[in-house]
Amino acid sequence: MVLRDGGRIVALDSTCTHAGGPLHEGSIENGCVTCPWHGSTFRLVDGSVVHGPASSPEPSYEARVQEGRIQLRARL
Ligand code: FES
Repeated sequence: MVLRDGGRIVALDSTCTHAGGPLHEGSIENGCVTCPWHGSTFRLVDGSVVHGPASSPEPSYEARVQEGRIQLRARL
């Protein structure tokens, strides 16, 4: 999923690392996304777990706008 959070663009996988919930249907608040299935919360900036039940971070991507297009790159 790709979204604008304040002045930046952030990108995370949209399948929750806990049990596959649809993160793109989750709620966004305070720079985090909360999974609608069991409530795991991940930081938008890097996919780290704020609280579980998920124990693994959500894969995240570096994102930028270049000539009107959004470009993503996997974090190394
Ligand atoms: S599937 Fe997302 S918290 Fe369980």
